Amino acid sequence: MGFWTDRVVPRITDRALATSEVMELRAQACAGLHGRVLELGFGSGLNADAYPPEVERVDAVEPSEVGWALSAARRARMRIPVERTGLDGQRLAAADDQYDAVLSTFTLCTIPDVDRALVEVRRVLRPGGSFHFLEHGRAPDQGVERWQRRLDPWQGRMCGGCHLSRDIPALVAGAGLTLRGVVEAYQPGPRVGRPWTYGYLGRAEKQIAA
Ligand SMILES: C[S@@+](CC[C@H](N)C(=O)[O-])C[C@H]1O[C@@H](n2cnc3c(N)ncnc32)[C@H](O)[C@@H]1O
Repeated sequence: MGFWTDRVVPRITDRALATSEVMELRAQACAGLHGRVLELGFGSGLNADAYPPEVERVDAVEPSEVGWALSAARRARMRIPVERTGLDGQRLAAADDQYDAVLSTFTLCTIPDVDRALVEVRRVLRPGGSFHFLEHGRAPDQGVERWQRRLDPWQGRMCGGCHLSRDIPALVAGAGLTLRGVVEAYQPGPRVGRPWTYGYLGRAEKQIAA
């Protein structure tokens, strides 16, 4: 991967995605989580303090050794057991129907085969289980979207494989999960930053078979 992606990007992410605005959105993404939860792309553990007490355990999937090391202090503070159970969201070790919920924050932009990862999310959720997500992605304004497509190759190189132009709700629905509400908006900031700031806070459910 290289020094920049392996050692620098996780540290930048740890700072950039910890603003007070983003931490408030993390709390909203984590509200209602309970039981056995899988977190896709645990990163440096910035959701650790937002897990509600109803969560019984967290299985963390995280490929970055630096990200995992950066999360150590946050994991140590958690009153909920957390274990690193995998390195790749595209191939989860868990059996089918294992989790009450799956959480993903700012990870679906980065996983190379996001369709495959979302099929895995659906597979490991129990029927009726929910997928909570907080992600950035494709903006609704054509001008912004054009810039997102132009910038995508650079974004990928600079930010560990991140894409700006993924339509996250469409990808979630395309994996067979039923959207149960998505709030979309640009985050506050200058207009020039809009390719990076369009965000989705949402829930989706694995339907119980009739
Ligand atoms: C922008 S960071 C977000 C980290 C964390 N989720 C957060 O909210 O702060 C993207 C994360 O996706 C992880 N990632 C990249 N490829 C992945 C994969 N195939 N499976 C799971 N996570 C992956 C990265 O290691 C990184 O931790």
